[in-house]
Amino acid sequence: MEIPAMPDLTLEEKLELLSGAGFWETAAFPAQGIRALVLSDGPHGVRRPAGDGAGLELGESLPATCFPAECATACSWDRSLLAELGTAVAHEARAQGVDVLLGPGLNIKRTPLCGRNFEYFSEDPLLAGELGAAWTAAVQAAGVGASPKHFAANNQEADRMRVDAVVDQRTLHEIYLRAFEIVVRTAGPWTVMAAYNKVNGLHAAENPWLLGTVLRDTWGYEGVVVSDWGAVTDRAAALAAGLDLEMPSSGGLGVRELAAALDAGTITEELVNVSVERILALMRRAPVQPDAGAGTAAGTADGTSAGRAAGTASGTAGAEADYAAHHDLARRAAAASMVLLQNDGGILPLSSEGTLAVIGELARTPRYQGSGSSRVNPVRLVTPLDGLQELVPGLLFEPGYVLSRESPCAGEDLVEMAAAAAAAADTAVVFLGLPDAAESEGYDRTTLDLPDAQLELLTAVTEANPRTVVVLSNGGVVNMGWAADVPAVLEAWLPGEAGGGAVADVLLGRDEPGGRLAETVPLRLSDTPAYGNYPGEGGTVRYGEGLLVGYRWYDTRGMEVAYPFGHGYSYTSFAYSDLGVRVVGAGSGQLVHVELTVTNTGGRAGSDVVQLYSGAPGDDAGQQRPLHPRRELRGFEKVRLEPGESRTVEFRLDVRSLSRYEPVTRTWVADAGEYRLEIGASSRDIRLAGVAALDGTVPAPLLGIGSSIEEWLADPEAAAALVSALSEAGGEGAGSASGSASGGAQLAASLALVGSMPLNRLARFPGSPVTPELLKRLEAALKSRRGS
Ligand code: BGC
Repeated sequence: MEIPAMPDLTLEEKLELLSGAGFWETAAFPAQGIRALVLSDGPHGVRRPAGDGAGLELGESLPATCFPAECATACSWDRSLLAELGTAVAHEARAQGVDVLLGPGLNIKRTPLCGRNFEYFSEDPLLAGELGAAWTAAVQAAGVGASPKHFAANNQEADRMRVDAVVDQRTLHEIYLRAFEIVVRTAGPWTVMAAYNKVNGLHAAENPWLLGTVLRDTWGYEGVVVSDWGAVTDRAAALAAGLDLEMPSSGGLGVRELAAALDAGTITEELVNVSVERILALMRRAPVQPDAGAGTAAGTADGTSAGRAAGTASGTAGAEADYAAHHDLARRAAAASMVLLQNDGGILPLSSEGTLAVIGELARTPRYQGSGSSRVNPVRLVTPLDGLQELVPGLLFEPGYVLSRESPCAGEDLVEMAAAAAAAADTAVVFLGLPDAAESEGYDRTTLDLPDAQLELLTAVTEANPRTVVVLSNGGVVNMGWAADVPAVLEAWLPGEAGGGAVADVLLGRDEPGGRLAETVPLRLSDTPAYGNYPGEGGTVRYGEGLLVGYRWYDTRGMEVAYPFGHGYSYTSFAYSDLGVRVVGAGSGQLVHVELTVTNTGGRAGSDVVQLYSGAPGDDAGQQRPLHPRRELRGFEKVRLEPGESRTVEFRLDVRSLSRYEPVTRTWVADAGEYRLEIGASSRDIRLAGVAALDGTVPAPLLGIGSSIEEWLADPEAAAALVSALSEAGGEGAGSASGSASGGAQLAASLALVGSMPLNRLARFPGSPVTPELLKRLEAALKSRRGS
């Protein structure tokens, strides 16, 4: 049934439409042609609760492909891979009757302690935004809505429901809002999810500045704003701020609060209608889905069946999802996301010839996804042990540790047996990582260390056999002091249901490790940017490091790191050459063209991630001008090349992409001057550099009587008005060098001495020529200049 423009709903029914009807659905009014919309997590697979879906119980969801988590896929730096993943997840969503997928997670990794970093892409907003946009656009092209989350500044799980993130405007715009802005502006998400926390004093879900001024007025967002589950504390305030849909159902409380606010006149029916219309528009966009639960994965545990599931809902268009093909995609995506952190002596890839000892419980009981609302019930899980046994029959396996709390005695036996296996083998591959309980939605980590039992095991194994390769499974970065003792480390992240096969592919060289770090691996927790400003106190967390998040911090301060942002080795090698930088156009219309040649100089096919960074003019420390991080990512391209093959890679940067946010004028401005443009294989491996001269777009500051003398003098018209007013005042009063040109110049020179003094403060000094009357005249002059 066609949904009418404004269906004949009573006011009460409209209010019901603005709140969930259960945990995962909106209210339905079949007589008016309004069906329930189904929302499901997201983001790395569909979590459609089985049964009536009435609860939040995890693990009780329909089987769905568990793709690699965002912490992994971010390291692919591959927009087209993210699009493939988006299409696949959306097909499964449609087959399972889901209208909106709750993802992607776009929050910035401010601290490695955030328990939910596995659900987020990066410490860099451009990378997070571009990958999130690719995923969102693909999901929506397949007829399912996305819900970028959690808007905004939800960068920790500690006290996540209430904590007030206090962030300066420039940092908000350049770092924490930027990824959302990219996704909103370029992919047009059907919904956006408002976060639990407060942003500068107001709950995100009730924050008119965030949801109104920024999201709708500045970015032009027209879709639905949905609350995170349970993020609303005051329904009327949330509606007034621009939050359309409260999820889940609040048992009628939201409806009653809205009704009371209508009675009290604090909100209007027009406001209600605006949100109703947005929700109806969302329904019109989402094709009618098969019955919830009709499409289920038929894949068998051993994966032998085609694993094809079809939505077979009565009378609705069928949707299909090819779970077998999606498993293969999950495997390819996992390999494309794994980061080869080190590979001394080219120990990897391994040959399948020698004896292999596989060590570590995580090889048999893998950690392949994170805990919490994103947990998917996988269709077909392949462990690393399965994957390796398929390629290296006869390998030795020892668990080495237990994942739960172990008795020291049993631990010693396990270590001894593992060391013996390592000694008997040509190569040992040790699987280390974080146990499930170490990182999760809902709470933060307390340490970056791997469990002691694992480190003890590693020491014993490397003593028994120095040809030891470590494979890591973790959602957030870990301390890696131990890495100096092993030749090779493969960071596999949380690689999804097919991760075991992908690990085997990469270790044996059937596939390459395609990943580059989307976040810095620090040397120690106390080096990290938020250290000292995390987790906050008294309900407030102050983002004291400002713009210097991730590599912006380490690079600006020249600090050593374990592995830099963007880093990762390939099984082949690449050379960059022939950098060309050209600036065309003028003023704010300038465009910077950057191009270079990438060549595969090694012996096998492989992919590389070309990274473009910029540094702004005058970024030397100590200069009295706006801070610029030493280096900021401005572009990236993943290229796949055959041995000996070369390709030209091009970037186009507009002025906005090199600009900083100016909080006083609330605009993006580019300082005039030379911008350093660098091509690197990581933020610490810069291979080519050039410069681009920009005209700059710095707008005149908004002058007022609180502006400094310097600011008045920098504006020729205002300077003339000030000097002439002062000359007049001087002429009337002290009989100074009024009137003459040289007198004016003298006056201007003496004013420069007190340049940093706000005009209205100068007026308070005894005998000051700047009097309150003069301030009034100047203020009036400014007003008439602005035409107000
Ligand atoms: C999480 C969201 C999730 C929602 C629904 C919340 O607790 O923060 O990311 O989409 O639950 O499961």
